[in-house]
Amino acid sequence: MANVLLGATGSVAAVRVPVLFEQLTARGHAVKIVATKPATYFFDPAPLRDHLTLDADEWPGDRYTRGDEVRHIELRRWADLFVIAPLDANTLAKLAVGLSDNALTCVWRAWDWAKPVILAPAMNTLMWEHPFTRKHLRALAADFGAAHIPGHFDEAMLVRQINDRAKGLRIVGPISKELACGDVGAGAMAEVPDVVAAVGEMLGRK
Ligand SMILES: Cc1cc2nc3c(=O)[nH]c(=O)nc-3n(C[C@H](O)[C@H](O)[C@H](O)COP(=O)(O)O)c2cc1C
Repeated sequence: MANVLLGATGSVAAVRVPVLFEQLTARGHAVKIVATKPATYFFDPAPLRDHLTLDADEWPGDRYTRGDEVRHIELRRWADLFVIAPLDANTLAKLAVGLSDNALTCVWRAWDWAKPVILAPAMNTLMWEHPFTRKHLRALAADFGAAHIPGHFDEAMLVRQINDRAKGLRIVGPISKELACGDVGAGAMAEVPDVVAAVGEMLGRK
């Protein structure tokens, strides 16, 4: 059993954050959540508040006092694994270039690379198929030691290549279905049991 940090970003698939929390907890893991502000548009943070870090928790008072907790560093120290589900297009871009303007991306930027990470992208089909997505996934893959993936792959093949080659990084690729916006195609977050299974597998590899 492990300390699992669940990151949530502003995709409609964040409606699944409570069930992800529940299922990871049911596996015996201790689970904490770090969510972006847009993520909380899609689930009620109140019942999860004791387990949840929001940006406001990083900046709790009027002024920093030496010795105050630095929450994103505490979370990184605590966690054995970081799973970001759902990962939206905006935060994918931030992870790829190292922007750290909220609690979640600060955890990522301060991450200890000896510990595994799992990303479950979720976005509209045209966002998923946009060249930026491949560019950003490739950048992340290179950071995890999987450079030189041939250039002609589509998104699904790219995800497979990354999962074969990148050490410590697992992408749980999106699935095709009718999306919340009414479009039909790839981009919906993988099913919750698949995300939970990836957590088990990555912890098993450690
Ligand atoms: C109703 C609604 C649904 C959205 N769904 C998605 C989505 O599934 N995937 C995505 O990449 N962006 C989606 N967005 C856009 C993101 O919420 C937006 O880019 C936001 O700035 C993301 O911020 P964050 O990455 O800090 O969470 C949605 C926006 C709205 C208003």
